[in-house]
Amino acid sequence: MNDLVIIAKKLVAEGKGVLAADWGVGSIGTRFEKIGLENTPENRKRYREMLFGTLGLSEYISGVIEFDETIRQGLAEVLKKNGIMPGIKVDKGLVDMANFPGEKVSEGLNGLRERLKEYVGMGAVFCKWRMVVTIGGELPTRACVETNARAMAQYAALCQEQGLVPIVEPEVLKEGDHTIEKAAEVTEETLRLVFEMLGDHKVKLEGMILKSSMAVCSGTGCPVQANPEMVAEKTVEVLRRVVPPAVPGVVFLSGGQEAIEATINLNLIGQIRSLPWRLTFSYERALEEPTLFAWGGKDENVEKAQKVLLHRAKMNSLASLGKYTEEAENEI
Ligand code: 13P
Repeated sequence: MNDLVIIAKKLVAEGKGVLAADWGVGSIGTRFEKIGLENTPENRKRYREMLFGTLGLSEYISGVIEFDETIRQGLAEVLKKNGIMPGIKVDKGLVDMANFPGEKVSEGLNGLRERLKEYVGMGAVFCKWRMVVTIGGELPTRACVETNARAMAQYAALCQEQGLVPIVEPEVLKEGDHTIEKAAEVTEETLRLVFEMLGDHKVKLEGMILKSSMAVCSGTGCPVQANPEMVAEKTVEVLRRVVPPAVPGVVFLSGGQEAIEATINLNLIGQIRSLPWRLTFSYERALEEPTLFAWGGKDENVEKAQKVLLHRAKMNSLASLGKYTEEAENEI
């Protein structure tokens, strides 16, 4: 238990965040296509080796979430040498929920205990499991949120049994034409259920991290888009209502926001004081897209791309403290 608390605290240490590098083979392929790179295991390894080996990254990044293939390629070692904690995404993705059109459930509980033991052997110290909640019409249904939340709690309990810190990620999707008020209501309800299930399954809150939709935003198709100040305020309002103070930290995903937009939104949240938990980032797209384009799949661009990653990590580190400025942004 003590180790769990120490790792969880280290993951959200002041000025640090988590890099999510767990795109599956299909998702990374879509990204590689944009830079004209073939989606092979070797190229995926080259790309992640470049990210993980960035010198100085540990100043801003506490941990990296790997994908099964990557950890099997031995890349946890690269992270450890660079002073970064290796983590692993362990859900096996989303499938349609029977009888609930438009809703998804996350799979991956079968054989999870054995897989976790294997990942511990490969160097992992924390894990991630993602569930999604869709807003639209009558959605989400309670049945869907409850099914996902229960699986999430079982995952979290199994992780802690194996000495791994679970990152619990209930992502409320931005897609849809809903208002910020609707997003806030659904996020609050979802988190309430997730914490209820975590309690039922005796998950130790001090030894876990919550990963939440970056902010309670308006849906992508909503004609009235809430401004960043409102997004920050609503996000924290919802978290205050439902996230117990025993949880050491909440990390946000970037969820399709532009890189700088994600930094600006985090900065506004970072400026809110007197919160019981640390708030920081756990971005994939907002950290990696600019890096991927700078790299372009070419060895001669490795240094340039690592500089971009380091810069984005530093900007988000500043933002998590509410200290991000345009001046700092332009320093690269
Ligand atoms: P994005 O930051 O690209 O949303 O991804 C983070 C993540 O881990 C989603 O599961």
